[in-house]
Amino acid sequence: HPARPLDGVRVLLTAGPTREPLDPVRYLGNRSSGRMGYALAEALTALGARVTLVSGPTALTPPPLEQVVQVETALQMHAEVLARADACELFVGTAAVADYRPVDPAETKIKKERAALEIRLERNPDILAEVAARRPAPFTVGFAAETERVEHYARGKLVDKGLDMIAANRVGGPRGGFEREENALTVLWPDGQRDLPMMAKPRLARALAELIAERYLEHHAP
Ligand code: C5P
Repeated sequence: HPARPLDGVRVLLTAGPTREPLDPVRYLGNRSSGRMGYALAEALTALGARVTLVSGPTALTPPPLEQVVQVETALQMHAEVLARADACELFVGTAAVADYRPVDPAETKIKKERAALEIRLERNPDILAEVAARRPAPFTVGFAAETERVEHYARGKLVDKGLDMIAANRVGGPRGGFEREENALTVLWPDGQRDLPMMAKPRLARALAELIAERYLEHHAP
């Protein structure tokens, strides 16, 4: 059916921020609201996909989906995604995964005894790159939030991570990006690109879902 181009396609999608614990009461986090990811999960479902959402902590109520898995840390998100990567045809990484986590989080609350505190961080795994490197790999879609030279850095990530598509947005400007109602995207794939102009996130998610479906179907039945 043309209205359900992704009928029965199994999608795995990450959304939201991750929280990296410093001690039992504190964490390193980021400003991702999860809104774009949740809206995209809903839009892909409307196109017929069976979506499993792996979500970091957000204030949002998940839409009705095939499965919703709640996680906190990047390592938990990594484990839940990798356990399901072979059972999807399409992977979309919208999560703002922390690049680093504190080495050995304290088991008890850190006290303000010293004038300064040093926290050592170690790298988190790149979930999206790992999924894209699997053989066979699902069709992989990533996001890139950039403050400058958006297309240049996004195309670099598309190539370096071996993705099939990347949706890039400019952050830190007056409009769009984190904690905003609307957003604009430049979507890139190996031999093309399309601009999705500034619009409300739910509408943008529907436009992006349609573009993902178009590229996914082209990829599978060229
Ligand atoms: O390299 P960068 O963090 O800018 O890449 C962003 C893309 O990679 C997003 O799609 C994000 O969900 C994904 N990512 C990931 N695991 C990480 C870092 C980023 O899946 N540790």
